[in-house]
Amino acid sequence: MYKLKEIATNVYYVGVNDRQKTLFENLWPLPYGVSYNSYLILDEKTVLVDTVDICYSDIFLKKIGDALQGRPLDYLIVNHMEPDHAGSIRLLRQQYPDVRIVGNSKTFGMLEGFHAITDGLYEVKEGDVIDTGNRTLTFFMAPMVHWPEVMFTYDQREKILFSADAFGTYGTLDGGVIDAEMNVDCFWEEMIRYYANIVGKYGNPVQKALQKLAQLEVRQICSTHGPVWREHIAKAVDTYSRLSRYEGEEGVVIVYASMYGHTEQMAETVAFSLSENGIRNIVLHNASKSHSSYILKDVFKYKGLMVGSPTYSNQLFPELESVLGKIELREVKGRLFGYFGSYTWAGAAVKRLAAFGERMKWEEVGLPVEQKQGQTTGKYEECLALGKAMADKLKGL
Ligand code: FEO
Repeated sequence: MYKLKEIATNVYYVGVNDRQKTLFENLWPLPYGVSYNSYLILDEKTVLVDTVDICYSDIFLKKIGDALQGRPLDYLIVNHMEPDHAGSIRLLRQQYPDVRIVGNSKTFGMLEGFHAITDGLYEVKEGDVIDTGNRTLTFFMAPMVHWPEVMFTYDQREKILFSADAFGTYGTLDGGVIDAEMNVDCFWEEMIRYYANIVGKYGNPVQKALQKLAQLEVRQICSTHGPVWREHIAKAVDTYSRLSRYEGEEGVVIVYASMYGHTEQMAETVAFSLSENGIRNIVLHNASKSHSSYILKDVFKYKGLMVGSPTYSNQLFPELESVLGKIELREVKGRLFGYFGSYTWAGAAVKRLAAFGERMKWEEVGLPVEQKQGQTTGKYEECLALGKAMADKLKGL
């Protein structure tokens, strides 16, 4: 018999923790795991908000059965169809064949495609309301945050926003569920990483969704990943607001690749100069070692981006090029960009980095440094100057 966390009057947390997967979406590392959050409202009507990854359907269905205690499940609201949340819908339907599935027209196309479910549906549009007895649930469409069918559900009585992936983080819920009842320090960096990895391309849709939310009084945000936000709503919303506007804080991430250490020496020199000129937040990533998940996190976090690469078969170094592709895919805006590179007999990296910066429409800062073979005093000085130019720009000098 499960004792479930009541997060508001007659609203229960029925989500699960995943400490087994190593890669979210088979792509992004999960050193602290991830939670798949689901919420059950026990009103005159019973309502489940989202399901969980199919790997955890057994424990999930047991939790729901314990909470319902023989009552029927009247509604399943599907705020998001990605399988980490929608994976258990078919099994849930088998267990509760009369449950009405609430979604929008895009939800139902995916529901048929993933689960072959086409009946017992209840379609909602922007602003539609379901009355469950003692409360109303209102639906707001949030397309492309980060899938087209995404919607938010708002509990008017309890002022709860069920926000799908928005405001979510990597990291399991280790006992506590509500932010006010747990130490959430570890979640803030993971929120940025989650955003940069999963949502990052969709800044404008996130801004539109945030504008809708600004009209609502929200006392709790119930995302599909991570803590329920109650005490830190303002910080969670502000984080999303800044990230979706691509607003970086003062600091520089230096992403480099290096085969034998010569480009790395350039990166170290640039970093030294940044520090000497007053920049406190400096992060170096060796693209061959740092997972792109973390590099993207820091690219979203900081205003300055500096990239260094050796020339490799007349191209950029492959691991570095792969990271740049992920940055470009996310259409990161407004970065201050500096770059450098090395070669042995014919240089290509620097001109390819220049082209990358132009495609991104970023402001180029300082003079790029191109080094042939080992570091000379002249190239050392050029790297110092490049670092200083970035520092001065960030400081507004
Ligand atoms: Fe957590 Fe977009 O699924």
